[in-house]
Order: sequence, then structure tokens, then C-alpha cells
Amino acid sequence: MDKNLKNDLLIRAALSQPTERPPVWMMRQAGRFMKEYWEIKNKYSFLEMCKTPKIAADVTMLPIDLLGVDAAILFSDILVTAEAMGGDLSFEQGVGPRFANPIRTAQDVENLNVDCLDKLQYVADAIKVIQGRLDGKVPLIGFAGAPFTILSYLVEGGSSKDFKLTKTLLNNQPEMAHTILQKIADVTVDYLNMQIEAGVNALQLFDSWALALSWNDYQEFSHRYNKYILSKLNRKDVPVISFCKGSSVFAPIMADAQPDVVSVDWNADLLNIKKSLPAGMAVQGNLDPFVLYADKPVIKKKIIDLFERMRGENGFIFNLGHGIMPDIPFDNVKYAVEVIKDFKY
Ligand code: CP3
Repeated sequence: MDKNLKNDLLIRAALSQPTERPPVWMMRQAGRFMKEYWEIKNKYSFLEMCKTPKIAADVTMLPIDLLGVDAAILFSDILVTAEAMGGDLSFEQGVGPRFANPIRTAQDVENLNVDCLDKLQYVADAIKVIQGRLDGKVPLIGFAGAPFTILSYLVEGGSSKDFKLTKTLLNNQPEMAHTILQKIADVTVDYLNMQIEAGVNALQLFDSWALALSWNDYQEFSHRYNKYILSKLNRKDVPVISFCKGSSVFAPIMADAQPDVVSVDWNADLLNIKKSLPAGMAVQGNLDPFVLYADKPVIKKKIIDLFERMRGENGFIFNLGHGIMPDIPFDNVKYAVEVIKDFKY
């Protein structure tokens, strides 16, 4: 464990060691629900923000300074690996991510560039600037998108409700899907090892849309590559969190990839999931983010219910089951962090 961390609650919880209280951070904590984010966003495009280490560091620090959470998450996006591989990526206001050159043919697959780490150097640079700013205050979480989720964006050309093109590819051309997935997996191994080298304290692998898959397809097209990635990381003492929406179903398979932590969506009972995992594997989760739209007494009650359920468990990191929505009131998020930090064990 990094001796220089003043607050190492997240690392200890991830490694299932005792903590005075569970650590708290929230997916999408560095984002649009903060007016301070918009003050920066109004001056730059989202990709400019990701690619300029000083700006990425400014945004990464916002939830540390304004919310007092126990971990920072690198300000970036899961789709930067796909861009480095040749995806023509843009983010349009109100539309979300777009790839102008979605994968359609074997030639498109052939064109995907695996040797592209140099294009992601700005992320290593950002990590170094952020660690200088954090100065050991809290751990920094690095991340990447998992191959299936990245493939879905490259094939659909953007976000999708039903993953029709993706599933048709998996069904009709599984070999082509495997070629794409293996290429993404190889880039992801290099990319996450680069983040470890640059100094992140923990990593999260986002397989956001794996819940679209059947049990068998999840194993063939998602888990297999996540397991490959985790087996190739020079993890040292950097814990790895595995996230997918659908973890309440897929947790037993996710555990087989041997992450340190399984991040759980809000459909599941967190304690039951924890008990179903191998001893010493931690859980993260799992408040429904929509609770943060509710009145404060409701927010407090739902958090306390979760914490009472998890009382006495090592290996519990508080998070939401998915990211904070942009229109959730900042004040409610701040209140949730206060409730968590005040909870008496
Ligand atoms: O969590 C954090 O605060 C760190 C930064 C972060 C972003 N995206 C910033 C972002 C992280 C960890 C991500 C991960 C990400 N990106 C995921 C996995 C997590 C999840 O939500 O399931 C996914 C699927 C994406 C892809 C993506 N990026 C989408 C679909 C969108 C647009 C719509 C949306 O959901 O926000 C983005 C854009 C994006 N990524 C923004 C931010 C702050 C908004 C950019 C803007 O200001 O317009």
C-alpha cells in the first residue's frame, strides 16, 4: 500500500482490510451536476478537457475540494481508447458520443490500430499532474472501458438503446467480434499498465452495457476479455474494481476474473452479493442514483438502510449503482457524502 496516502480508506476497503468507516466516492462525481464543471466546460470541448492535463486535473479535483469524497477519479472517458485505435470520436451536446466511422466491414476491423499507446500519453501526463495536486490527500482511481462496452460504441457509432447492430454482429459474425474484442483488450492492457506506471492508486474497468447480454454471451464476449485484461495487469498493490450494470446477475462470473472489488448495481442486495463472492473479494455500491433526486430525509434513510445492512463487513466501498445524472442537485450529493461520513459504527 502507498505509504504516502493520508486517506487510504478506499485502498484498505478494496483489499478487504478493516476501516474506521466505508469510503465514499461516486461514479460521474466529476461532472455536469456541478456549476464549477460548467464554468470550465463552457470554455472548452469535452475532448479538449480530457486531453489537456491541467484542465483534466482541475476537474478531477472538484469533487475532492467541494464534496470531500474519499477518492478522486481521473477526468477522462472510456472512449478515448477507441479514439486512439482510429475511431473518429466527437461528443455532441445533448446527443452524447458519436463515431463518424462505425465498424461495418472486415477492412474496418483490420484498420483498428493496436499500437496506439503514444496517442494516449496525455492520460499519463494528466495522472502525474493530478497526483502532484492531490499530494496524497486521497487515492486516485484510473479507469478504462471494457472491450464489449467499447465494441458496442464502435459498432453502433454511438450510444444505443437496444444494441441491435452489436448483437447482430455477435450472432452472425462472432469471429469478427472476437477479432475486435481481442484488439481492444490488448490496447486496454497497455493503457491500464501505463496508468499504473504513471501513478494511479486503484483502477476501475467499466463494462457499462454488459447487462444487454445473455448469460452465455456475457461469458463469451465480455468476461473472457475482462479476465484476460485483469490477468495481464502489473497490479502490484493497485486494487482493481470491476463494474458492470448487470452485476446483480453476473457477479459470480465477474468474480472469476479475480478483481479485488465487484461494483454492484442497485437491483441486488449488496450483502447477499458479497456473501456469494469468494472470501476477501470486496463490493462497491449500490445506491440507486435516483435516490439523490429525493428529499433529504429519504436520502438519509436509504443510505442508513444500506449501511446498517453492511454493518460489520470489511470490504465495502460506498458508491452509486451507476453514475450521477447531470440534473441531480449538487446540494443533495453533498448531503449524501455528509450522511455517510457521519455514520457511526
Ligand atoms: O466519473 C467521473 O466523474 C470521471 C470521468 C468519466 C466520464 N465518463 C466523464 C464524462 C468517466 C469515468 C466516464 C466513463 C464513461 N463514459 C462510461 C462508463 C460509466 C457509465 O456511465 O456507464 C461511459 C458509458 C461513457 C461514455 C460516455 N461519455 C457517454 C455515454 C457520454 C454522454 C452522455 C453521458 O452519459 O454523460 C459521455 C460524455 C461524458 N463523459 C461527460 C463526462 C463529464 C459529459 C461531457 C459533457 O460535458 O457534455
